[in-house]
Amino acid sequence: MWIDVGPADLTEGELRGLEAGERLVLLTCHQGRIGALDDSCVHAGCLLSGGWIDAAKSAVVCPCHEYAFELGSGRNVTFPRLCGDQPAFEVRVEKGRVMIRVGD
Ligand code: FES
Repeated sequence: MWIDVGPADLTEGELRGLEAGERLVLLTCHQGRIGALDDSCVHAGCLLSGGWIDAAKSAVVCPCHEYAFELGSGRNVTFPRLCGDQPAFEVRVEKGRVMIRVGD
């Protein structure tokens, strides 16, 4: 199921945390591409939207323990890898709105 999570007006480098029903979602904009990850860090629950983008790794860095998760895929690109990957959502932009795919 695809859900509308707001306008596709993100600026380059932006991290936007939002609520979509019961989910906390992080929208990112890097190199003109919009991505969506779960905002609640898989390591210990901090909000990735309070972190920053590491452009060299194309990853968002969590503000709590500085784990980095690849934008788009959510793959944990930290070494050593002490936790798993961050859940990611498929994204599409439709009529100026960001749509993400969530489990049915
Ligand atoms: S809570 Fe995100 S790295 Fe620990």
